Amino acid sequence: METKIYKPKTFNLSGLNGISDKTLEMHFKLYEGYVKGTNDLTERIAEILSDGRVDQEEMPAYSELTRRLGFEYNGMVLHEYYFGNMKKDGGGEPQRSSELRGSVERSFPSFDIWKTDFTSVGKMRGVGWSIAFLDPTTGRVSNHWIELHQTGAVAGFVPLVVMDVWEHAYLLDYKPADRPKYIEAFLSNIDWDAVERRMPNVPAMATAR
Ligand SMILES: [Fe+2]
Repeated sequence: METKIYKPKTFNLSGLNGISDKTLEMHFKLYEGYVKGTNDLTERIAEILSDGRVDQEEMPAYSELTRRLGFEYNGMVLHEYYFGNMKKDGGGEPQRSSELRGSVERSFPSFDIWKTDFTSVGKMRGVGWSIAFLDPTTGRVSNHWIELHQTGAVAGFVPLVVMDVWEHAYLLDYKPADRPKYIEAFLSNIDWDAVERRMPNVPAMATAR
């Protein structure tokens, strides 16, 4: 059985505004650690299952490995979303005619108020992520605080804009208290076309739940 199911992706992000190449290189290594962690957990759980059962004495190890799955999996996947929604010479705003912009403006009084909410979520104390999700059943966008990597996400919602606000994302470039400057830098690098491509094809977009 193939257990090394995930391979680290590569991202060409050199020359971003306000997020140094040094930070990115360190961050890519951290991300690769989550890919390895996900593969290792999968492999170890498969080993326990290899005799067809989970014995009583295996239960503590099995439980701990299984509890860590959400952390490692999301550590891998969210970093892919994060690196994947930035580019050199990015930033600005999504086009007025875009599906994304339409969804944001149906969900908030204005694009700017969505941005205020998204950046304010990112400034919350704690270790985690600010993520703008789309509810694929209604087409509504909502911003969420994700604690660590895995707490607070809504099942089935689609991540659109994903911002890492763990200190490792900016500590080489900014002081811990200067997280708002990093957030500003992140916004100036957003690849809105990449975000737009994440919009699911929802036939009944904007219909009420
Ligand atoms: Fe990170």
